[in-house]
This record gives sequence, structure tokens and C-alpha cells, in this order.
Amino acid sequence: MAAPTGGPVVISAQASRTTPATSSPIALITGAAKRLGAVTARRLHGAGYDIAIHYHTSADEARALAAELNEDRAGSAFVLRQNLAARDAGERLVRNFAKKATRLDVLINNASVFDATPLDAADPGAWEHMQAINLRTPYFLCLHAAPLLRRQRGAIINIADIHAERPRAGYSMYCTSKAGLLAVTRSLALELAPEIRVNGISPGAILWADSEDAALRRDALRATPLGRRGEPSDIADAVHYLVRAGYVTGQVINVDGGRSLHM
Ligand SMILES: NC(=O)c1ccc[n+]([C@@H]2O[C@H](COP(=O)([O-])OP(=O)(O)OC[C@H]3O[C@@H](n4cnc5c(N)ncnc54)[C@H](OP(=O)(O)O)[C@@H]3O)[C@@H](O)[C@H]2O)c1
Repeated sequence: MAAPTGGPVVISAQASRTTPATSSPIALITGAAKRLGAVTARRLHGAGYDIAIHYHTSADEARALAAELNEDRAGSAFVLRQNLAARDAGERLVRNFAKKATRLDVLINNASVFDATPLDAADPGAWEHMQAINLRTPYFLCLHAAPLLRRQRGAIINIADIHAERPRAGYSMYCTSKAGLLAVTRSLALELAPEIRVNGISPGAILWADSEDAALRRDALRATPLGRRGEPSDIADAVHYLVRAGYVTGQVINVDGGRSLHM
């Protein structure tokens, strides 16, 4: 592995896929082994995309998903392991992607950590870990993927959170990281235009985290005009819209049952 250069990854003309080359568009989805990422992967695959399934610890789930997609369409999915907390994770992931694929049409920054970080228990290590995974690496993934995406007039979709713009007590580091991701989305929409569109999706309550107790879940639903949790397919629907929305860039769609209306 070459030392990080700070510039975008240069893709070799000899780059080849271990899976058979096709002319299908390809989406790279981080944190795609399970939950929202996996549902989004299935949706885009159903729409004709080949899928690069990034994972970190969920190797079994990632391989099972790739096998499922490849059974449906041979050679249409492969897995990539990368710890996104690593300083050079963005460059490494794109470099490893480019060993297996010759084109990239969509980058979805979906992976994230969601830890409570009350102010009185905060420490710099927790800050750096959260910002690295939720903000720094998505930013550098955009940088390193840009040359490939530019060739396809592709798209980047950053998965944020309604709490990026409306605070959640006890989660200031997470909210900060997602607010930064929205700033990245809007800034890079300007910088990467006109070849690459950059948009965001801010989910509300879709799949609960283990840390979210019954009282919190009840309160969240009470504050949601549509009165229920969203489905992972609601996020996949928004992703599918944004990959096709050729005249939309720099926008963030709240998929939250209306909850952000009175937060
Ligand atoms: N679930 C919701 O209701 C909800 C609400 C608001 C916003 N969101 C946002 O929507 C996105 C998906 O939500 P989710 O609940 O499906 O996410 P999640 O399960 O919390 O996390 C998705 C994936 O992130 C990966 N990840 C975590 N740390 C990593 C690291 N150090 N290196 C590489 N990958 C790492 C994990 O991959 P491995 O399992 O392979 O380790 C994990 O499966 C996230 O960006 C989240 O913030 C979700």
C-alpha cells in the first residue's frame, strides 16, 4: 500500500474486476452489510446497479449479501473491508475498489457510529473517532472517488440525520459530525459540479439503535406527524430518487415522517 499522497487516487487503466466486467453502473455503499445500507444495496441492485459492499466487522453479513446479489445476477456484487477510522481510509477504500472495478457511478456514504457522548464524559479520543468515521473519511472518499465519478457524471449521496440540524442532548459529537457532513454535501455540490451531483438524506426514526430505550422510542413517535417509524425502504426510495434526479444537487431530503417540522 502506497503512503497517502493527499491527492485523489489515480486509477490504473489496467484496473480489472475479479468478478466479470460488465457495463452495468456500479454503486459503492459504505456500511452496506446490514440495516439501512443492505436495504439500499438491494434496491439499487434491483434497479440494475452492480454493488460494492463495504463493511468493517460484519464480514459474514457482507458475504451473504454479495452471494444473494450474485445469485440474482452473476458477478454483480463484491465486498470490500475497511476500517473507516483509519487516517488513510478514504484513499485505501477507493484504491481497493479500483482493483475490482473500472467504473464508479454512485458513492453512498452510509456507514456511521452513533454513540452517546455526554459533555461531562467527553474525551478527545471519542471526538476523533466519531469525526473520523462520520465526517473525515466520507470527505476523503469524495475526494478519492471524484476522478472515477466524474467520468460517469456520477453522484454522491451522504446519509446524515435530522439531528444534524436540530440538536439531540447527549449526542453533541454525533450531531456535530452529521452537521459537518451536510456542510461537506453542500460545499462539494458546488466544487464537483457540473460533472458530479452531491446530495444528502437525513433519516428520522427508521431502525432503533440498541441504546434507544422504550421511553425515547415512544417520545420520538409522538413527535412524528405521520405517527410511526419509517421503513428502511423509505431511505432506499430516497436514494433511488437521488441517483436518477439529474437536475438535483446540493440538496438534503429529510425522510422523517415530518418530525423535523416541529423539532
Ligand atoms: N437507523 C436509523 O433510524 C437512522 C436514523 C438517522 C440517521 N441514520 C443514518 O443512516 C445511516 C445508516 O443507519 P444504520 O442504523 O443502518 O447504521 P448503523 O447500523 O449504525 O451503521 C452502519 C454501518 O457502519 C459501519 N461502521 C461503523 N463503524 C465503522 C468503522 N470504524 N469502519 C467502517 N465501517 C464502520 C458498520 O459496519 P460493520 O457492521 O461492517 O462493522 C455498520 O454496519 C447512518 O449514517 C446513520 O447515521 C440512521
